[in-house]
Amino acid sequence: MSETPTMPAPSFAVTGATGHLGRLAVDALLRRGIPAGNVFALVRDPARAEDLAELGVGVREADYDRPDTLGPALEGIERLLLVSSPTTGDRVRQHTAVIEAANAADVGHVVYTSVIHADETELLLAPEHAATEDVLQGSGLPFAVARNGWYIENYTARISEFLERGEIVGAAGEGRISAATRADYAEAAVTLLAGDITDYQGYWELGGPSFTLADLAATITEVTGTQVSYRDLSGEDFTALLTETGMDADTAGFVASLDLSAARGELQTDSPALENLLGRAPTSLHDAVRAAVV
Ligand SMILES: NC(=O)c1ccc[n+]([C@@H]2O[C@H](COP(=O)([O-])OP(=O)(O)OC[C@H]3O[C@@H](n4cnc5c(N)ncnc54)[C@H](OP(=O)(O)O)[C@@H]3O)[C@@H](O)[C@H]2O)c1
Repeated sequence: MSETPTMPAPSFAVTGATGHLGRLAVDALLRRGIPAGNVFALVRDPARAEDLAELGVGVREADYDRPDTLGPALEGIERLLLVSSPTTGDRVRQHTAVIEAANAADVGHVVYTSVIHADETELLLAPEHAATEDVLQGSGLPFAVARNGWYIENYTARISEFLERGEIVGAAGEGRISAATRADYAEAAVTLLAGDITDYQGYWELGGPSFTLADLAATITEVTGTQVSYRDLSGEDFTALLTETGMDADTAGFVASLDLSAARGELQTDSPALENLLGRAPTSLHDAVRAAVV
C-alpha cells in the first residue's frame, strides 16, 4: 500500500530574532505549529539566543553590516521575515544587503516590516522604509510588506514616568494614533509569512483602534486610578522642553516631529488589515495598559 507523500514544511527565518519583534515572531511561528527544526533565528550574536536553540530553533549569525554572514544564514531558507533595522540613516544599505542575499539564496517569499503609509507621508522615518520597499519590489522576489503603525509599547514603556509627572506632554494635538502591540504585529507578520503567499503578496497597512494622547492619558487614569492628563504643546515648545530635560537638539526635534506627524493624522489608518490577519480584534489600548501596570 502506498503512503500519501507529505510535503516537507518550508523553512522560515526571522532576522533581529534577539530583538523584541523578531523574538515574538519566532514564538508566533512555533505557536502556529511550525516545527522548531524548520525555524531559524537570524541574530547578530548567537550567544544571546541560547534559549531559542534550547527550543530546537536553528540559530544562525546574520549581521546586516557583514554581508559575508548573510549568504550562509539564508542557505535553504524558503521564507524570510526581514525585521527592519533600528539603525536610522543606514538602513537602506543594510536592508539591501539582506534582500540581495535572499535573492542569491533563492528565498521564495520575503516579508518586510515597514512603517504605516510609508510611500505617502511626511513622517521622518518613512523614506528609508519606502526606499527598502522599492529595493524589495525591484528584486523580483515575491514579497509582502507589513506597514506597521506605532507600537503601543512606545507609550506603555513610559507609564511609570507619566504617573510620576501626572501628565503626558506632547505635540500630537488631536491626532489619532492607530497603535498596536508588538505581539499583534508579530503574529500578523507571521500570517503574511506562513500563509498561502499568493493571498498575501503586496502592501498591508497595519494598526489597531486609534486613540489620541488625551485618550491615552484617560486610559492610564482609568486603569491605575491615578490622574494623568495630556498637555499639548506646539512643536517648538515641545522641542524646547525636551532639550531642557537634557535631550540633544537634533533628537528633540526628531521626537517632536513624530508627534507632529501624529497631529497630521499620519499615524492613523482605518484599514481592517491587522484584525483580518489576526482573525480577531487587536489587543486594546486598555488591555495593553492594564498588562503593563500589573
Ligand atoms: N512601529 C514602531 O513603533 C517602532 C518603534 C521602534 C522601532 N521600530 C522598528 O521596528 C524594528 C523592530 O522593533 P523592535 O522593537 O523589535 O526593535 P529592537 O528590540 O531594538 O530589535 C531590533 C533588532 O535588530 C537587530 N539589529 C540591529 N542591528 C543589526 C545588524 N547590523 N544586523 C542584524 N541585526 C541587527 C538587533 O540585534 P541585537 O539583538 O543584537 O541588538 C535587534 O534584534 C526596529 O528595528 C525598528 O526598525 C518600530
